[in-house]
Amino acid sequence: MMDHSHSISINDSNKLSGKILIPGDKSITHRSIILSSLCEGKTKIYNYLDSDDCNLTILAMKSLGVNITKHPNYLSIEGKGLKSLKKPAKTIDAGNSGTLARLLVGVLAMQPFSSKIIGDSSLSERPMERIIEPLSQMGANIISKNGTLPLNIEPSKKLHNINYFLKIASAQIKSCILLASLYVEGESIIEEIVNTRNHTENLLQHLNYDMKIRNKKISIIGQQKMIAKDIYIPSDISSAAFFIVATLITDKSELILKNIGLNYLRTGIIDVLIKMGAQIEILNESNNGYESFADIKVKSSKLKPIQLSGEIVSRLIDEFPILFIACSICNGVSEIKNIQELRFKESDRIKSMELGLNKLGINVKSTKDSIKIQGGTIQGGIVDSCNDHRVAMSFLIAGLVSKKPITVTNTSNINTSFPTFFSILKEQNVGIYKI
Ligand code: S3P
Repeated sequence: MMDHSHSISINDSNKLSGKILIPGDKSITHRSIILSSLCEGKTKIYNYLDSDDCNLTILAMKSLGVNITKHPNYLSIEGKGLKSLKKPAKTIDAGNSGTLARLLVGVLAMQPFSSKIIGDSSLSERPMERIIEPLSQMGANIISKNGTLPLNIEPSKKLHNINYFLKIASAQIKSCILLASLYVEGESIIEEIVNTRNHTENLLQHLNYDMKIRNKKISIIGQQKMIAKDIYIPSDISSAAFFIVATLITDKSELILKNIGLNYLRTGIIDVLIKMGAQIEILNESNNGYESFADIKVKSSKLKPIQLSGEIVSRLIDEFPILFIACSICNGVSEIKNIQELRFKESDRIKSMELGLNKLGINVKSTKDSIKIQGGTIQGGIVDSCNDHRVAMSFLIAGLVSKKPITVTNTSNINTSFPTFFSILKEQNVGIYKI
């Protein structure tokens, strides 16, 4: 594997072609590992994402006493039931992963033992109050200095169900409360302000966990038994998005991406790109009972600028950095509103993208919750990933169409979500250079 702890330079106008395999979905991998650990019996998880973030979820569950083994094609997990976890010998490290930190705390807060969770410098700046508040309402005992990591979690004898309205559109908060609800007696009700990705609900239903979901309201009764069942994970649409946009913006390209997860709450990027004029076809649609997936065929296209706001935002929340690159090469101004949550990702993504795009000669203006991008020609230059894997990959894809090379500094974070990003670029004969 290429060592990409260094800066990477890219400049190429090669066409992209053929078929590519994108690794498994990150959100579903985290959830599959955690839920299978809480089941009774052995689970095989196919097409799991073998990346830094998900490997930390494996380590975390192992430190809680779960047997997990990696095989060439699958992960096997020996769950011992909801009440099987044991006190970890060491502090749990969530690294760069907000999903791991927020989901796991939902489980840790319900245990009869104390634990501590930390993260890297980026994760340590991200808000955790959003999970501490509902979990505290459930009687949990979580100690944090500034509403950020590290969190010290102490056992509590007063744990109970919750009726909670989520003011922030966040699948991580929803999933944290859902996982905590598994441990308490009686019915918990969780209501969302907008629908966010529902992979936790889908997996629970796959495991025959009885729950009611009506529009934006979930009602779930705790302490049901979960029996292990194998899981197949579709490939990650959030990773696919980089190569979908790469194909659209380079001349004479045509690419097929195999078995991409097409959960409606994740496919905003496809809908938006089609609105912008993208030639995208969905082939061989399939559904395994809990997630749908298909092959995606993409062809080079002339893209038009876009205006976006409202509920669609949560359906493409992780795809904005690469969408901003697509907007940068359109003829005209794109305006995207209601994206305040982008400020709380692995970096402040409005700021990181604005900084980088400005350096590359693209005119960008932002407010606290919106961005305006004046399309033009992406020049070349040096941009920083701002400790953010999706910012790093977005600017590297911009290097496929920039006038001069783009060098992206701090690219090792790409391993958190997409460890085969560089090998796919190499397969496509794209010129990438380690600096
Ligand atoms: C995720 C939810 C989203 C997303 C993140 C993964 C998940 O975060 O940005 O990359 O797996 O639940 P929020 O819940 O903070 O919106």
